[in-house]
Amino acid sequence: MTHKILVLPGDGIGPEIVAEAAKVLECLRQEHGLDVVLEYGLLGGCAVDELGEPYPEATRRQAREADAILLGAVGGPRWERIERPLRPERGLLAIRADLELFANLRPALLYPQLASASALKPEIVAGLDILIVRELNGDIYFGQPRGIRTLDSGEREGFNTMRYSEPEIERITRVAFEAARKRHRKLCSVDKANVLEASELWREVTGRVAGDYPDVELSHMYVDNAAMQLVRTPKQFDVIVTGNLFGDILSDCAAMLTGSIGMLPSASLDRQGKGLYEPIHGSAPDIAGKGLANPLATILSAAMLLRYSLNQPQLAGRIEDAVGRVLDQGLRTLDITTSGMTPVGTQAMGDAVVAALME
Ligand code: IPM
Ligand code: MG
Repeated sequence: MTHKILVLPGDGIGPEIVAEAAKVLECLRQEHGLDVVLEYGLLGGCAVDELGEPYPEATRRQAREADAILLGAVGGPRWERIERPLRPERGLLAIRADLELFANLRPALLYPQLASASALKPEIVAGLDILIVRELNGDIYFGQPRGIRTLDSGEREGFNTMRYSEPEIERITRVAFEAARKRHRKLCSVDKANVLEASELWREVTGRVAGDYPDVELSHMYVDNAAMQLVRTPKQFDVIVTGNLFGDILSDCAAMLTGSIGMLPSASLDRQGKGLYEPIHGSAPDIAGKGLANPLATILSAAMLLRYSLNQPQLAGRIEDAVGRVLDQGLRTLDITTSGMTPVGTQAMGDAVVAALME
């Protein structure tokens, strides 16, 4: 059966990095029997420009029909001043909500070759392998009521609502426990239960679900402490499960432990394992169009796509090995260059991964 992959290059560096991941998929198709067709669509600022909204109906149809989606990045200064519902980021939030992609898996894995590119001492990060499971459909990102209103006093007030229902907490917690089972069987749930009722319920529900996973050790941590522990002794963590907002923040923090946010892929999955795969970094408008961006996070996102949505773990492993070999050869894009190394561009990096796949 031919798998349909919807490719959404997006904005900024999106098209450049996605082109390299597409090369990798094309190589697997030609050389290793991967049965896929790639279809292209619009999401984010480019969709606003062409069709007047960040998640247009045409993209919605394509997304529903696809077996998996590969996304570059959305957003940029060009669209910062347009009205809020038309902002590119809204397109991303809309596709996550529309397809019920509630489980966001963000691995933070340190390639040993990059230990010296981390902002932390090599001995603190060597061997780092954390998985952050971030809830993606709820929380203050989607909670109503929200808005900016004018009070009787004439002063304005911005407000948002943090909300989590029991079923929402339970389904993401189960995903995290299942993931922990396949790893080192340690799960840390991060919340702010000392202040927030939404977190109080979160802690109660995760604790209850733990009863079904006696083989996994569950701990709880407040988010402020978790941020500190991540940069103090990151290797204490195996799997972290948390809500949408805390997960957004902690995953950027964890990314930097690995040397560069340009290295980290992510998967956003629905109940059936259909998913949207994207690098966790943004559209980097400052370097867009210059051929400087690191395509490895997107290439590794394609590997996650093969593993989780297409059930092709061997081909996923091939991509990950190829990335490791390219790093062994000393190839580095600007973001992961350390002293004495000459950086290569986006295309050269993609070509090197393809060459390593053909070996
Ligand atoms: C992310 C991004 C998005 C988020 C933005 C672009 C809406 O930061 O995927 O982490 O906040 O979820
Ligand atoms: Mg983020």
